[in-house]
Amino acid sequence: MVTSKALQTSQQDNSCREDLVYHRRRSLPLYLHSMPKPSAPSRPETKPLEARQQDRSRLLQHRAERFFPGGVNSPVRAFRAVGGDPPFLTRAEGAYLWDADGNRYLDYFGSWGPMILGHAAPSVVRAVQEAASRGTSFGASTPSEADLAELVQQAFPSMERMRFVSSGTEATMSAIRVARAFTGRKLVVKFEGCYHGHADALLVKAGSGVATFGIPGSAGVPEETVQHTLALPFNDIAAVEAAFAHHKDQIACVIVEPVVGNAGCIPPAAGYLAALREITQRAGVVLILDEVMTGFRLALGGAQERYNLQPDMTCLGKILGGGLPCAAFGGRVEIMQLLAPLGPVYQAGTLSGNPLAMAAGIATVGYLIEHRERVYPQLEMISAAVADGVAQAARQAGIALGTQRVGSMFTWFFQAGPVTDYAGAARSDLAAFATFHRVMLDQGLWLPPSQFEAAFVSLAHTPQDVADTIAAARHAFAAM
Ligand SMILES: Cc1ncc(COP(=O)(O)O)c(C=O)c1O
Repeated sequence: MVTSKALQTSQQDNSCREDLVYHRRRSLPLYLHSMPKPSAPSRPETKPLEARQQDRSRLLQHRAERFFPGGVNSPVRAFRAVGGDPPFLTRAEGAYLWDADGNRYLDYFGSWGPMILGHAAPSVVRAVQEAASRGTSFGASTPSEADLAELVQQAFPSMERMRFVSSGTEATMSAIRVARAFTGRKLVVKFEGCYHGHADALLVKAGSGVATFGIPGSAGVPEETVQHTLALPFNDIAAVEAAFAHHKDQIACVIVEPVVGNAGCIPPAAGYLAALREITQRAGVVLILDEVMTGFRLALGGAQERYNLQPDMTCLGKILGGGLPCAAFGGRVEIMQLLAPLGPVYQAGTLSGNPLAMAAGIATVGYLIEHRERVYPQLEMISAAVADGVAQAARQAGIALGTQRVGSMFTWFFQAGPVTDYAGAARSDLAAFATFHRVMLDQGLWLPPSQFEAAFVSLAHTPQDVADTIAAARHAFAAM
């Protein structure tokens, strides 16, 4: 039962939506049914393939390179793994993105995960505007922090206490600090291909951009900093047992993406997560589920709900902030009460719990809670249709394509598969992926620009979008 005042407001906002969504044309995205008449058409024609202009984006890239290394503020945005110039985006609505040259793209990366409701969802935009009109940052406590925490706890009851931060990187590094303090031990176990943000100790054999650029870790990280990090192969319980036997009473925590998204989508083998839980519990080691990507996406309660798992600590981000900078770490009371000001573990943030991020988070998570019975089946249906439809087109074209999907996150690996770990993902045909990516982009389909990233479906994606995607993929396969 949702009780916060903030959500009660959003319930009222959503009540007409409920009626409209399932009794009118089903092909419209969920929230568009409740939108006031848009001033601009929400679905202008996609320009034909040969007409994709790139001149303005190219100029903007050159200008950006005068200020930012590689012209970007986060490395995978530079499109180095797939080649070509990255389009500069100027606007997004629903499932669509528009670039500076006026090209429209159907979005399958959702800002790397947060945009589960689609872009510029009216209820989120309204919530942020209202919050901004009351002040954008106070550096003091606000009621909205507990409003959002109340919603988070409904979805993730294992987070008995939590703290809001501004990025997933902060969430994971802070969780590890508390876990080390709680156990009085130093070693951190992570898994190859998992990415937990860019804190020094976690860049060992990491996924995402680290895998995309093929670098083993990062320059500028002293050996001493990573000597307490053990990187093990994912989905290999024997490797975990061996590490625990070898480093008896030295391991503070195990941190894992329960479904790997940052090496492409790699599901856990049957029983793998339960075995991790059992081994860590037996050894008094803190199990941290990094649900920055999977939280609110694989189920309302993330992977821990989907796989029926009770971690000691959880990290959230992305969807939690509804597209604004917000993340959280939390878990058992006895661990979390070690944080300052109650305990000796220091952690802080000027913009933590920022009121705009709280407002966007409440609007987004509130919507998911309120509509959970319909949201997750819809995501499942659309995601299965697009992932399997493209897989079938590949089979018909004689292209080796392995499709891996859990809920609304998926990857098309350019190999027969299945992929069970990072080493397997790295055996993909990266040149074929780059070609596929380029041809899809030219047809107005925006996929994540690396084989080592998951694609995402939002509630704004429609069956027509699925059909368009499959048609574009057929064209791409024919060109390969
Ligand atoms: C699983 C996971 N953990 C942590 C992070 C780091 O989050 P942020 O980019 O907000 O620092 C990411 C980012 O993609 C992620 O996917």
